[in-house]
Amino acid sequence: MTDTAPLIDPFARAITYLRVSVTDRCDFRCVYCMSENMNFLPKAELLSLEELDRLSSRFIAMGVKKLRITGGEPLVRKGIMTYFEAMGRHLASGALSELTLTTNGSQLRRFAKPLADCGVKRVNVSLDTLNEQKFKDITRWGRFAQVMDGIDAAQEAGLKIKINAVALKGTNDDEALSMIDWCHARGFDITFIEVMPMGEDMGEGLRLDQFWSLKDVQSHIASKYTLIDLPDNTGGPARYVRAEETGGRIGFITPLSHNFCESCNRVRVTCTGQLFMCLGQEDEADLRSVLRRAEDNTALDAAIRKAIERKPKGHDFDYSRQRVAGEMTRHMSHTGG
Ligand code: GTP
Ligand code: 5AD
Ligand code: SF4
Repeated sequence: MTDTAPLIDPFARAITYLRVSVTDRCDFRCVYCMSENMNFLPKAELLSLEELDRLSSRFIAMGVKKLRITGGEPLVRKGIMTYFEAMGRHLASGALSELTLTTNGSQLRRFAKPLADCGVKRVNVSLDTLNEQKFKDITRWGRFAQVMDGIDAAQEAGLKIKINAVALKGTNDDEALSMIDWCHARGFDITFIEVMPMGEDMGEGLRLDQFWSLKDVQSHIASKYTLIDLPDNTGGPARYVRAEETGGRIGFITPLSHNFCESCNRVRVTCTGQLFMCLGQEDEADLRSVLRRAEDNTALDAAIRKAIERKPKGHDFDYSRQRVAGEMTRHMSHTGG
């Protein structure tokens, strides 16, 4: 018998949002996300495209409505469109409400149209600056013009775009307003994210003075724009306002200044099939070994349920005592954010 009861965690939160990281690789090396010399996994460690399909489909059978593909950079995974096409069938059947991805934008010229053809309606593009030199400093290996072209391609393909910017004091704090102007002029949403202490060189290496509380970012933005609180929810953790003068939306993701774990609806699968019940905790469940042990899904379904029963209340990230607490040694790229 197949198991299709909804996934409810110990805090009565329904798990309806799955983030699947399809690769640990990336063509960039963002300073807050990866170290410059990363050791990537051998192919045999990765879930195959068929395994990704099988695993994601079990979550969808158990009530996941929103599927976000992440990485690393998801679009550098070989053959990735096969997986998007496969997930498109769940959109067509109505089982899934949204199929989307978070990308650095570098490969969108090639993939925007095929993604739209699979039923993807919007993409989140990580972009912290519009200054080419700063872009180089932050991404180490990124090519700004290629990202701009990718964003154009996404727009041409009819995809809605949200720009994600990590707020970094001393790096992009002088650009918050100009990035809003640029996004809204092009019809994009923009979301600011507070920098979280993740990655082995992060705990000690994260300079607290880089942290820019979104409370302060919002005050800064309010010095130029009239901000109106919106009830909008895109299914993720952002809270939104509208800038009256531009008509565009601005989102705030505030794990540090305003914890949103209470309404958490999501879990993450890594490219090796580990299920992380919380972005900010170590606990994980190995679904790959269960999946590879049997073709039948009974044990897999049971392993998923057992893991959800362990979903913790929330993260322990905290900078309030003027030092970094609750940091994670794993890199953000491991779970795809
Ligand atoms: P929408 O569908 O547009 O709402 O996107 P989303 O916010 O769900 O996804 P996106 O990939 O744009 O997420 C932005 C970033 O927010 C992530 O990369 C993380 O840095 C952060 N984030 C998302 N979910 C969580 C979470 O559960 N906990 C914490 N601490 N941060 C999160
Ligand atoms: N803190 C906050 N956000 C981060 N991201 C990557 N590393 C961090 C971090 N340490 C963001 C990226 C991207 C998403 C996948 O996660 O900018 O938008
Ligand atoms: Fe959910 Fe964990 Fe993120 Fe909190 S930190 S919102 S519990 S994933």
